[in-house]
Amino acid sequence: MKVPAIQKTVLVTGAAQGLGREICLQMAARGWRTIVADLNKDAGRQCTQDCQQYGSDSIFVWVDLETTEGPEQMVAAALQHFGRLDVLINCAAHATVEPFIEMTARSWEQTLLVNVRDIALATATAARQMIKQGGGRIINITSPASRMALPNYAAYAASKAAVDSLTRSAAVALAAKNIQVNSVAPGMMDTPMQVKTEAMIATIEGQTDLNAFLAVRTARIPAGRRTTCAEVAAAVVWLAADAPSYMTAERLNISGGLDKD
Ligand SMILES: NC(=O)c1ccc[n+]([C@@H]2O[C@H](COP(=O)([O-])OP(=O)(O)OC[C@H]3O[C@@H](n4cnc5c(N)ncnc54)[C@H](O)[C@@H]3O)[C@@H](O)[C@H]2O)c1
Repeated sequence: MKVPAIQKTVLVTGAAQGLGREICLQMAARGWRTIVADLNKDAGRQCTQDCQQYGSDSIFVWVDLETTEGPEQMVAAALQHFGRLDVLINCAAHATVEPFIEMTARSWEQTLLVNVRDIALATATAARQMIKQGGGRIINITSPASRMALPNYAAYAASKAAVDSLTRSAAVALAAKNIQVNSVAPGMMDTPMQVKTEAMIATIEGQTDLNAFLAVRTARIPAGRRTTCAEVAAAVVWLAADAPSYMTAERLNISGGLDKD
């Protein structure tokens, strides 16, 4: 008797827009079942419908990843619907730009809760299920910011350095359980987050000509151009679906030469 192939399931956080949405669409196009998790209901549901257009069995899970119970409830909702989880992609992030000497406790709290604690708790919860299934993959979205000195973006940069640390810890904790944990560091993609934060940085730095400011930032990229969500998502999908299973604790830089290793 022919055993039916298992239909694989991926949960993507921050999937209502930007990079997370593109990752979901590309996974859907490859026939994966998709769980779109986000705070933004309307755009999240739209992403689910767009995944369904590719024939993907897709659900939207509303979650506030800043809350203590959010990450665990999100994974539980996914399991309740699909009964399994093969890949978790931690893509959601909070980004606040503020002058270094005027930083606020609230922005640190939000940034660290969404960008760090959520990833830790979601990873641990998903891993408990993946261990029962015999393996899985977890991909964290980090940033070139994790290695840069960004005085007006300090909480975000620190949070991404913590993501790199978590990727290493999780990779070692889960390697013997056949769970690979890797990360992707995207270069500049003109998503809603990027458009908003660059305008804020320009204001803080007193740059009145936004287009000129953006052009200077683009010119600093060795490749001479910004990237797209589609280009970065292709790397994430490769890690999720095609990368060798001996590859873990790796950071893939898709940043046009901004990151050099
Ligand atoms: N855009 C870039 O140039 C760039 C560069 C490097 C790294 N990144 C990283 O890529 C990832 C995706 O970023 P993006 O540019 O697509 O951002 P985005 O703001 O366009 O999308 C982020 C998504 O996360 C969701 N989100 C935020 N807080 C949440 C919360 N508390 N609970 C649930 N969902 C929440 C938002 O609703 C949104 O849909 C992030 O991890 C970001 O740090 C982006």
